[in-house]
Order: sequence, then structure tokens, then C-alpha cells
Amino acid sequence: MATAISLSGRVGLVTGGGTGIGFMIAKAFAANGAKVYITGRRLDVLEKAAASVIGVSGSIVPLQMNVTDEEDVKAGAKHIEDIDGKLDILVNNAGFAGARNQAGSHDTDFATKKYAAEDPFEPETVQNWADLFALNTIAPFFVVHAFQSLLVKGASSRPQGTSSVINISSVAAKMNTSAPMVSFAYSVTKAALDKLTLVLATSFAGRSIPIRVNALQPGVFASEMVPPELLEALKTQLLPGQVAPIPAGRHGSDAEMGMTALYLAVSDYTNGAVLSVDGGVSLVNP
Ligand SMILES: NC(=O)c1ccc[n+]([C@@H]2O[C@H](COP(=O)([O-])OP(=O)(O)OC[C@H]3O[C@@H](n4cnc5c(N)ncnc54)[C@H](OP(=O)(O)O)[C@@H]3O)[C@@H](O)[C@H]2O)c1
Ligand SMILES: *[C@@H]1O[C@H](CO)[C@@H](O)[C@H](O)[C@H]1NC(C)=O
Ligand SMILES: *[C@@H]1O[C@H](CO)[C@@H](O)[C@H](O)[C@H]1NC(C)=O
Repeated sequence: MATAISLSGRVGLVTGGGTGIGFMIAKAFAANGAKVYITGRRLDVLEKAAASVIGVSGSIVPLQMNVTDEEDVKAGAKHIEDIDGKLDILVNNAGFAGARNQAGSHDTDFATKKYAAEDPFEPETVQNWADLFALNTIAPFFVVHAFQSLLVKGASSRPQGTSSVINISSVAAKMNTSAPMVSFAYSVTKAALDKLTLVLATSFAGRSIPIRVNALQPGVFASEMVPPELLEALKTQLLPGQVAPIPAGRHGSDAEMGMTALYLAVSDYTNGAVLSVDGGVSLVNP
């Protein structure tokens, strides 16, 4: 097994890999020998994250890339093509749940307003929905497009090899209760991403393109998106809108996220799966 899950010689890319779930996944890949590009809009955040990972057999390389900007994504693909000539693992992780402030980062005001609002249409805006779809649903499709030929080269770098696309969805995609303190659009963008995962996996499989596409639906994990108060509260309280507490009684750990992504990255026989890692929360909440 130690050999079976080794990523030695493989090149990965995790969008939004400098923080939260993306960074958990990048660290797991690097610990198992991969060279992992982490991308995001803030280069300082990426550089700090990369510098904090030491003593692993692989490596972490910061690469600034705004996934909603087509030219930026093409430039990222060109950069990796010039240096590595292939990509084995692509994790579409960059995503968003609430609203942006003027500076383009988390609008904490939105979460507070959403929590307090009686009216489900507040404080939603058309612009906010468009931004969420652009990042959570549309960008992953075009990122796969830009990296498709490198992913095919990654697959052919191993006998009977396949490369792996992992879309980070959310349990919000299958739960019908609304996720607390986020836009109503969030679960809709993630449900659309799951459908996109299956449509694309089928399309690749039908054309004998050796790229597998799977979706990973996290429950609650620590990140910039989830306020620390919420991580604490869920140990003892029901989250707003939910009917039963998380059976695990806690949020997920870095290792629990990392091992799941590692599995989807290496298992050449896993294709079109939509996998929840959520401590059972969607089991007990409709
Ligand atoms: N944490 C949870 O409990 C949870 C649960 C279910 C699903 N998820 C999903 O997990 C994924 C990661 O979220 P997270 O919770 O780890 O939150 P996070 O810490 O906010 O991570 C999001 C990352 O995406 C990057 N990003 C945002 N917009 C971008 C853009 N236009 N181009 C490139 N990168 C961009 C951000 O970096 P920059 O701002 O520097 O660009 C950031 O590093 C998301 O898809 C989210 O929906 C999270
Ligand atoms: C990311 O790209 C979008 C679309 O091109 C653009 O509107 C936005 O300003 C960019 N953000 C950053 C921080 O570059
Ligand atoms: C949400 O509703 C659909 C349709 O009734 C159902 O199939 C699904 O199981 C529900 N989700 C959960 C998590 O119970």
C-alpha cells in the first residue's frame, strides 16, 4: 500500500491551494512525493503556505492564477507545460460560499445579515449569484479545458495510467436544508458542479480520454470560509437550519481531507464517484 499510494514523480495542481481544504490536500500530496502547484489570487498567501511545508518528499510551488480569468488560466497551463510538460492531478478547489467585499475577499457582513434575515431573499443579489457561479461552476470547466492536454500527457507517463480531476463540491449539493450563513446560490452551484463532474467523466470515458473525474463533497473543515466560532459551536449546538448535530461531533481534520484526495488521485479504477466526507452530517440532515 505504501507504494500504491505514492505520488512520487507526479505533478499536481490545487486551485485555491494556499488556504483551508486546498492546502490540506496539497500537503497530503507533497507528503506522498508529488510536486504540487498551489494557485490563488494572493501570491503572498501562496508563498507563505509553501514555505511552511518542510521535510516532505515532494514539494509545493506557489503559482498566482485567477481561475475566473481565462487568460490567467491559459498562462498557468503554459507555465507548467514549459517546466513539467505534464499534469497528473488537477484539484478544482477554489470556491466561495458568501459574498465578496470591494477588495474581493470574504464579506463577513453578508454572513451576519444572512444569519439574521427572516426573508430567504435577503441579502442576495444578482451580482452575487453571478460571482458564485463564475467561480464554483464555470471556472472548473474551463480549467479542465486548459489543462486537458497536459492531463493526457500525465496519464501516458505511466503504463495504463490515468490522470485525475477532483472537483471539490460540498455536502451542501445534496442537502436540501440551506447551508448556514451562506448564499442560497452556494448549494445550487455545487449541485451543478456535481452534474458537470459526471457529464465530463462520461464524455472522457466515451472518447477513451484517460482522465478520470470525481467529486469530493466535504462537510465542515477549517478554512478562511468557516469562522472559528462556527467550528467551536458545532461541537455542542445545532447549526442554523439543521435538524440534527454532526454525528462525529466535530469538524474534519487535515489528515481526513488529505487521505480522501490521495485516494481519488491514485485509484485508476475510481471514476465518476461523488464522495462525501462529512462526519455523517448529511446522513442525519435532509
Ligand atoms: N470548509 C468547509 O467546511 C467546506 C465545506 C464544503 C465545501 N467546501 C469547499 O472547499 C473549497 C475550498 O474552500 P475552503 O473552505 O478551504 O475556503 P478558503 O480557505 O476560503 O479557500 C478558498 C481558496 O480559493 C481561492 N480563490 C478564491 N477565488 C479565487 C479565484 N478567482 N481564483 C483563484 N483562486 C481563488 C482563495 O485564495 P485567493 O483569495 O488568494 O484567490 C482561497 O485560497 C471550496 O470549493 C468550498 O466551497 C468547503
Ligand atoms: C479575477 O478575474 C476576474 C475576471 O477576469 C476579474 O474580474 C477579477 O478582478 C480578477 N481578480 C483578481 C484579484 O485579479
Ligand atoms: C433532498 O431531496 C431529494 C428529493 O426528495 C432527495 O432525493 C434527497 O435524498 C434529499 N437529500 C437529503 C440529504 O436527504
